[in-house]
Amino acid sequence: MKYVVNGGNKLFGKITVDSAKNSILPVIAATIMCDEECVIKNIPLYLDVIEMSAILEKLGKKVEVKDDNLIISGEIRSTSVIMAETKTLRSSIFMMGSILSKYRKAIFTYPGGCDIGKRPIDIHLEGLEKLGVKFTFANDLIYCDADKMKGSEITLNFPSVGATENLMMASTLIEGEITVIKNCAREPEIVDLANFINSMGGKVYGAGYETIVIFGVKRLHGTIYKCIMDRIATGTYLIAGAMCGGRIELAGTNPNFLLPLIVFLRNSGCKIDLFSDKIILENFTRLKSIGKIETETYPGFPTDLQSPVLVMQTISKGTSIVHETVFEARFKVVSELAKMGAKINVSERYATIVGVQKLKPANVICPDLRGGAGLVLAALSAKGRSEVDEIFHVERGYYNLEKNLKNLGANIEKTE
Ligand code: EPZ
Repeated sequence: MKYVVNGGNKLFGKITVDSAKNSILPVIAATIMCDEECVIKNIPLYLDVIEMSAILEKLGKKVEVKDDNLIISGEIRSTSVIMAETKTLRSSIFMMGSILSKYRKAIFTYPGGCDIGKRPIDIHLEGLEKLGVKFTFANDLIYCDADKMKGSEITLNFPSVGATENLMMASTLIEGEITVIKNCAREPEIVDLANFINSMGGKVYGAGYETIVIFGVKRLHGTIYKCIMDRIATGTYLIAGAMCGGRIELAGTNPNFLLPLIVFLRNSGCKIDLFSDKIILENFTRLKSIGKIETETYPGFPTDLQSPVLVMQTISKGTSIVHETVFEARFKVVSELAKMGAKINVSERYATIVGVQKLKPANVICPDLRGGAGLVLAALSAKGRSEVDEIFHVERGYYNLEKNLKNLGANIEKTE
């Protein structure tokens, strides 16, 4: 599948942003800790969400989509998460914490790396060992014995999002025990997961700060929950508006989750109005380069918006430097952008960009999720016909992308 884009249109109009992929995935994993019915409202069917739901079903949960809600109930029949999907879906590792919390044993395939780096899980495993989990490794499998799980004080050597979420879930059902996790990730999706667990009767406090305290409870009850909006999709649409020019309104968003990007967009010359639940961006000038951009863990500039912002710099006036500090291989999109006339030089974790007036249309291939989104933005801004191929990468994390962009006036079609 590919997008055929006839770029060059300015964007005008209003779209509503969907729930966050990186909230929904750990929330789906957390439903393993509860046998009663959990309803996750307004569920965008990202490919990753479909895959995560399929894994839950294979484990024995009842999963259905009804009126755009995801309804999950019942118990898992197996604690062996050994299936093809877990090789491609890294987020399945989140299930380790929830399964061990409730069932105290599990077998996992070692999650694969992916397009943006090795993606090790040492921080996850070290934290779980502190909770008393014993691991044995054989033929690419991880055998987990959590019979003797107990509360503990854990300090993460890096504020890993996944490890923070895994340990929050692992501690949730260690009844009567207190677990303290220090140097936690502080992303809004961590707060969302804590709120979800607490809506089921869990006791998770301090999410969003660097220390989280979990009081283990005996069991969890069913819930109805709506996840926060997707701040990365929101940022991607804002950058589309900045690059193409025009005036766009994004509803259902929380500007507080995007402050570093909003500062960048204002410094690049865009006019941005912020409201409690919407963002309006307007730009009719040539973008100015924003100089040095460094990705950081939250609340710093998010690594997931690095590719879209790098693409924005390719047509901004001046030179800029992007420093990717979180993942080791997140510049794969650069070689595809070169086909469109971008002037980018990469050395290790630094990319230096000299802005050109306009990118040229070309046929390009998505290297990964966010790099692929960047290529769509590049094609929208380049006057003429471009093809963006292997868009399954993009559909992992963007729902109805071409429909939303069409609603804003873009000329984009999805074809075989
Ligand atoms: C989550 O991945 C997100 N995925 C990623 O979004 C996001 O880029 C990342 O957090 C950082 O914000 C989901 O939430 C499903 P990390 P995660 O553990 O949890 C290293 C997207 O585009 N590390 O915070 O895997 C790791 O290699 C995706 O939507 C270890 O060394 O991120 C990386 O360099 C991509 N050992 C850094 O930490 C570990 O045990 C950040 O990883 C774990 C991580």
